Amino acid sequence: MSVIKIVIGSTRPQRFGPAFASWIKSEVEAFTAANQGAPRFELVDLVDLGLPLLDESAPASTRNYTQEHTKRWSRIVDEADGFLFLVPEYNHGMSAALKNAVDYLFYEWNYKPTAFASYGGAAGGARAVEQLREVCGEMKIYDIRESVLVPNYWNQLDATGAFVPSADQKQAAQAMLAQLSFWTDAMKAPRESLTKKA
Ligand SMILES: Cc1cc2nc3c(=O)[nH]c(=O)nc-3n(C[C@H](O)[C@H](O)[C@H](O)COP(=O)(O)O)c2cc1C
Repeated sequence: MSVIKIVIGSTRPQRFGPAFASWIKSEVEAFTAANQGAPRFELVDLVDLGLPLLDESAPASTRNYTQEHTKRWSRIVDEADGFLFLVPEYNHGMSAALKNAVDYLFYEWNYKPTAFASYGGAAGGARAVEQLREVCGEMKIYDIRESVLVPNYWNQLDATGAFVPSADQKQAAQAMLAQLSFWTDAMKAPRESLTKKA
């Protein structure tokens, strides 16, 4: 069975990322209940990794890691067959924490599909996702067109701070999960033969 890791892309105190992840997890549960044999989805919170700003001397493409946090992050990404990045928009780009986490590794990302669910102000994180798509090209991560984009999410919070999605957002999430799951499964075997040649 394929494994897809959902990466929460923010780390600051009082962030919205975990509440957004809760909603995405509920969409994943609905998706996996309706689709037998769907990939297994696991949540990864960058806060739990505590990655400092990149502190390896050799480039990730050498895979010569000296730090325990790099080895741990490498194992987590290695185990995945695909990704779902939860992307906040910071100054029209992705968060520094997410870019830093991507930069730590190289081969672990290669030939794996990813989808994006983003949030922010008026643009809903769209600019951050477009920037991240460019980075994915360099990391040989295959980006999926179908996405979730939530503008001004603070207008959709209930009294407990939970995110209350619209019908359109739920539909977008299901379409994205279907594409991500399809490509993650489809790329698994070819990826293994590509990786052997790399
Ligand atoms: C440093 C910083 C810069 C931001 N810049 C933008 C921006 O350019 N566009 C936007 O839509 N929202 C922007 N925001 C609002 C964030 O999208 C919003 O605060 C979101 O909750 C951030 O994700 P987080 O709470 O998970 O950290 C910015 C927030 C921060 C902290």
